[in-house]
Amino acid sequence: MDLMYKMIKNMRNSLLILGLIILFKTNASAQSYNTLWIPDTLTGTNFNLTIKDTFAQIVNTGNQTITGGINGKFWGPTLIINKGDVVNMNVQNDLNDSTTIHWHGMHLPAVMDGGPHQIIPPGTLWQPYWEVKNQASTLWYHPHLHEMSQEQITKGIGGFIIVRDAAEAALALPRKYGVDDIPIAITDRDFNTQNQFSIVPYGDSIMANMTLRAQYSVPAQYVRLRLLNGAIEASYNLGFSDNRSFYIIGTDGGLLDAPLLINGTTPRYLLSAGERVEILVNFSGQSGSSVFLKAYNQSLGNFIPGGESFPNGPFASFLGHTNYNIVKLNVTNTTANPITSVPTSLVTNTYPLEQDAALTRIITLSDSAGVTSVPILGPNAFILGHQLFNFNTINHSIPLNQTEVWELKSTSVFGHPFHIHDVEFKILTINGATPPTYQQGWKDVVLVEGGKTVRFIAKFDDYADAIHPFMYHCHIALHEDEGMMGQFVVTDLNSVNEISKEEIPITLFPNPAHDKLFVEFKNQAQSAYYVSIKDLLGRTKLMLPNPYLKDGIDISTLSKGVYTISIMEKGSKQVITKTFIVN
Ligand code: C2O
Ligand code: CU
Ligand code: CU
Repeated sequence: MDLMYKMIKNMRNSLLILGLIILFKTNASAQSYNTLWIPDTLTGTNFNLTIKDTFAQIVNTGNQTITGGINGKFWGPTLIINKGDVVNMNVQNDLNDSTTIHWHGMHLPAVMDGGPHQIIPPGTLWQPYWEVKNQASTLWYHPHLHEMSQEQITKGIGGFIIVRDAAEAALALPRKYGVDDIPIAITDRDFNTQNQFSIVPYGDSIMANMTLRAQYSVPAQYVRLRLLNGAIEASYNLGFSDNRSFYIIGTDGGLLDAPLLINGTTPRYLLSAGERVEILVNFSGQSGSSVFLKAYNQSLGNFIPGGESFPNGPFASFLGHTNYNIVKLNVTNTTANPITSVPTSLVTNTYPLEQDAALTRIITLSDSAGVTSVPILGPNAFILGHQLFNFNTINHSIPLNQTEVWELKSTSVFGHPFHIHDVEFKILTINGATPPTYQQGWKDVVLVEGGKTVRFIAKFDDYADAIHPFMYHCHIALHEDEGMMGQFVVTDLNSVNEISKEEIPITLFPNPAHDKLFVEFKNQAQSAYYVSIKDLLGRTKLMLPNPYLKDGIDISTLSKGVYTISIMEKGSKQVITKTFIVN
């Protein structure tokens, strides 16, 4: 089996090399560039996101590529949201498969988080909502269905989230979307001979916003790049082809206290899967020139994702352990009101203090060494806490408002980008030493290099839920799918759930209903925790976490027929199921 796979991959590689030689010999336009695609933006507080199977002409010639997209041909719109707003998401799954949509980096209730437990069946509308508590930052959203994350992310499903707030708005920073404030999701893909994506950890082609050989015009002034590593596995050691310096202004969870100059002979920033960085690049006075944003992965060690060079096998890639262009930036004219300087300071961050930590939680990252065997990684699966992920095991329970130190202890040979939901954290030490300045801001992903120990601190506040867990995992989608993941609940010790055995009296009206269905609890102290509506074939049509029922449930999307509604009561977690008719 393994051998066959290797043979096919070898054959595929030699065919591709042959193909490339032919391309170079016969087609001079093989080196032509495509304009970097900039996702549309959605603003406001109500967001309609329809996920569907679709296709796009990604490779310039030949077949279109089968993709997954949100409101479009691939990827999805950039959601621009404001701190303090309550945002409502209408996530319609029109894929042929179940999926989930996770709001990566967002601090919200676990039931709204879109992790592997919030499965959206095909044909179902999921309506999470939350108050935006994050500070201004660059977050993203992507599928998180267990054992399917790699496949669904490979299809291209995902999107940026830009959080804005007053502190950021007060700064003289580039903020014209797509002009001097440019989101770039970097990823790599492998195309088969039919131009279709192969589901592999490392691709042979680099993509920026799903664009191959991308180029883009930038104005001759300071430009802000919001860079996201949306890859399945690779890290990208980012820098510019002329080794120009740049400023880091923000990391995963928001702006730094002050811009940080990355300079020297080879200014680089290593961005691992799931991570974001916001940088400022100075193009003043450079109109007419071009520069490449590149990945300098040749300098990466063999055990950093993207640093390995496998000639064949499932991890082979033309991009392994080499340097390559990501996007060509062509400097044009200056815009009106350009940003021509870098602010001396940005925001005032208050990080949790180590002396306030109630405990140190130790999470090991290790190689299973034959203890467990999983599909692609085989007997050398990577695991957290000495065990593979189990859907039904809550690995940790954290009291609400507790500040904790998490000690990530790696005995793995390989580097793993560790990600945690619910919180942004601050890195305290890496192998006992203070981390480099550019890793001292808010983070939700940290690359834990093989054999190293990373300690971070976080406070688990605002949201407690004894039954819906948050996840932590390696953000290499292959490792996550194969079980390098765990889960925790945040519990509120002050709230006691009384379990009553009695049937909960509830009224549904009108029935038959047309546009709205009202649900009323006889006991005013009771309320709904989760509502789901299924049709007669048992297909889930609506999923409403923690719904606000006073205005009725909008059932205008349901066609005529008989439905069942299941209502989980908040305090008792009892489920009441009733039937209603839509006419
Ligand atoms: Cu971006 Cu749990 O993931
Ligand atoms: Cu996440
Ligand atoms: Cu990993």
